[in-house]
Amino acid sequence: MTEQLRPDGSLRHLLTLEGLTKPQVERLLERAQGMVRPLGARPAMSQALAGSTVANLFMEPSTRTRVSFELAAKRLGAHVVNLELQLSSRVKGESMLDTVYTLQSLHVDALVIRDAEAGVPQLVAANVAPHVSVLSAGEAHVSHPTQGLLDALTILQRKQRFDGLAVAIVGDIRHSRVARSAWHALHILGVTDLRVVAPAALMPEAREFPGVTRCTDLSAGIEGADVVMVLRIQKERMGQADLPDNARYFTAWGLTHERLKAARPDAIVMHPQPMNRGIEIAADVADGAQSVIRDQVRNGVAVRMAVLAQVLDARGETP
Ligand code: NCD
Repeated sequence: MTEQLRPDGSLRHLLTLEGLTKPQVERLLERAQGMVRPLGARPAMSQALAGSTVANLFMEPSTRTRVSFELAAKRLGAHVVNLELQLSSRVKGESMLDTVYTLQSLHVDALVIRDAEAGVPQLVAANVAPHVSVLSAGEAHVSHPTQGLLDALTILQRKQRFDGLAVAIVGDIRHSRVARSAWHALHILGVTDLRVVAPAALMPEAREFPGVTRCTDLSAGIEGADVVMVLRIQKERMGQADLPDNARYFTAWGLTHERLKAARPDAIVMHPQPMNRGIEIAADVADGAQSVIRDQVRNGVAVRMAVLAQVLDARGETP
């Protein structure tokens, strides 16, 4: 795996949360918390990254992650360029690395990459010049490190601790990079009661989530949980034959108010979005008092500011 740290131990790339230490993750969360502002207030802004350029390369659709990386970079004073699949030369057959070398020649300092193919962020990180940082914005089904951090931050804000929490991740875990990065983050931060709750067909292989409780019944899986994280059915990663029927899925697996009663009364409900209302989650639960889904979105900008500041400040350059 590509080394994410510089020789002095500072974070250079963020490709996965796997292998980061608890103090490294806590430092990022603390920095992110410092960037959170109440809704309606002006967002946190600085010129910390003035003179730096961040390129967003999104080879898969994205709303929240792309916009929040862009806002995060701009709110730290960086320049931002956005490349989308349809607009980039990749459709003309230019390889990903040639696109990256072009951006590097244009003085881009950080590349934010989302790709449907596993291994692309690592490949890019292994080939960029030493001053360039690579941040994964979602790698196939493999990982989504900034999502893992924003999920952890959202839990910390509501529960003030990780120790002793019961966290149930529910739904299409097999295809979910969000679940994998949430597991990495929460495992590093010391959550010991972590459950993956899914129908057998959407359950990941046991070796991928070592140490978690696996459960194929929704009510039993969320019983007494402090956190219920619901995931989207990732139809784009399934063969036609594996597609569940929407109505049948909702009947068996949709998180409704009635079903949520199995969790703790003060349980929070999370979802990374995009949501399929009426399939994996009832609309009134998504919009209800226990939902922290909009906090997750707000925290996404703060986390991406913290990560950008962490990787770009640490270069120790003066512009
Ligand atoms: C997710 C993604 O793309 O991995 N969305 C996000 O980044 N918030 C989750 C999903 O697509 O279901």
